[in-house]
Formats: sequence, structure tokens, C-alpha cells
Amino acid sequence: MNSNPLSTRLAGLELRNPTALASGILGYSPESLQRIAEAGAGAVVTKSVGLTPRVGYPNPTVVQANCGIINAMGLPNPGIAEYASEIRYAKTVLTVPFIVSVYGYSAEEYAAVAKAAATAGADAVELNVSCPHVKETGSEIGQNPKLLTQVIRQVKAATSKPVIVKLSPNVTDIVEIAQAASAAGADALTAVNTVRAIAIDAETALPILSNTRGGLSGPAVKPIALRCVYDIYEKVKTPIIGCGGITTWKDAVEFILAGASAVQIGTALAQKNPAVFQTINRGITAYLKKKKYRSIKEIVGKAQRN
Ligand code: SIN
Repeated sequence: MNSNPLSTRLAGLELRNPTALASGILGYSPESLQRIAEAGAGAVVTKSVGLTPRVGYPNPTVVQANCGIINAMGLPNPGIAEYASEIRYAKTVLTVPFIVSVYGYSAEEYAAVAKAAATAGADAVELNVSCPHVKETGSEIGQNPKLLTQVIRQVKAATSKPVIVKLSPNVTDIVEIAQAASAAGADALTAVNTVRAIAIDAETALPILSNTRGGLSGPAVKPIALRCVYDIYEKVKTPIIGCGGITTWKDAVEFILAGASAVQIGTALAQKNPAVFQTINRGITAYLKKKKYRSIKEIVGKAQRN
């Protein structure tokens, strides 16, 4: 019998608990990622890295909204050649599965970055096909089932490591996109990235973010993300990682009941502190005990009506 009720297995990765650090929150540093592992996360995901370095947008890149954060950083990153040595080092430091988020401007680029990340030691790659505002990458790929299929197929051909696909909520039918990703060979689906949003300063009468449009995360998007997970689980067999506004253990349990095998936490970390992982894991454990479940596996998708 499994003695750890929180352990979960997905996409070939063994997680000691279902909480993971979401991409984008803590950047790339192996030390800060390991601090999150020590604080209780079951896995960590880096900020997205591309084939070549990218400066990103000028400030302001982040703005506080009522129930969340709107960001448009513009995918700033050191490029995979530079980051590969950090990945090698991270593998000697990290005590939990290490997932490298990658993006590209073509299927070939996604495949090249994923291959380099995997070769350097990433335990899995998460494809960012859902950044809502950088041109010719992100959601411009993830909103198009044909392009998405090409990207996933090429990445799968380039590496034997698990391939997780992070989906955009900014689509008409997320199930159609999830089905395409699953058919192309995705090992897991992260649902979802940020919701397209804008903030305007009444004083200056201008948009606040330098890029004008950004992506909303945090409690404001939770019901949308939860619906995405529910809809995907109903129709698609590929394991799901829930992401979007998860702040409390109850949020995490709701995502698992909707169909997620694990959850990612991002904005809550920016707004609280790393203890959020332990607090959420303790709450899930207490919930399982109270409801007399032996493991979270018993409650994955339990809220589905059919
Ligand atoms: C950014 O770097 O602007 C955010 C990336 C994302 O939302 O995927």
C-alpha cells in the first residue's frame, strides 16, 4: 500500500506531492528553485527559455489587479546555450523533478531547445505554447491545432524525456486544442496559462504595461482555469496539471476533483511566501483523512458528473 497519500505519478515523473512551482515566477536560478523544493513543492518549472537570448519588454512589465496580477515580461531569458550549464548544475542541487519551460518561433526551434534542455539534464520539458502576447510564438502556436501538432511531434522526435504542453485559456474550444496535443503525443497538459488582459491608468489615460496587453493570473482566473481542467478531463485521457489562481488547499482539492493529477502554484507565491506549498499540502492531507480517502489518486476527476 502507498504510504504517502500525496504522492502522484504523471508523465513518467514521480512527485512526492501534487504541488509544483509554475513557470515564470522564480526565473532560472537553481538555488532559488531548490529553496522552493525545500519549502515543500513536489516539482519546479523554470521560466521559459528560447534558442537565443531575449531582453523582454521595458518596464512596467507587471501590474497589480484587484484579484490577481497582469504581466507582460516579453519572455526575457538567457537563451538555451547559456542556460544549459545552469541546468547541469541544477541537477546536482535539486531534490525534486526539474521541468524546463521552453518556447520557440517554429517547430524546429521548440525541438532544438527541448533537446538541449533534456540533454543538459531536465527531467521533463514544458512547452510554452500559450504566452498571450509575444508575436509568432506562444499562443499564436497553441491556438492553432495544426501548428501545435507539428511542434509536439518534432519535440517528441527530438527527446525521450516527458513533454508537458501548457495550454492557453484564450481559445474558443480548449478541448479541441487538448485533443490535438494529446493525439500528437503530449505526456501531460498544463491547464492553463494566463488570460489576456489590460490595465489602464486613468491619470495618464494610457495603458500601464509597456506592451499594452498582458496576461492575468491569480484568484481572478481560478474559475476559468477550473472549468478548463473539468472540460479537458471529460474528453481527454492525457494527465492534467491544473494551474490558475491556486492559493489555498481547497483550491488545489477543487482542481484535483475537476480532473488534475497535480497543480502548479505561481501568483500565490508572489503574493504570499514559499510556505504556501506546505500549507496547501497539509490541507490536502487533512481533507483526505477527513473524507477517508487513502490517496489523492482516488479523488482525481471525482467531481465529474459522468
Ligand atoms: C512573459 O514572459 O511575458 C510571460 C510568459 C507567459 O505568459 O507565458
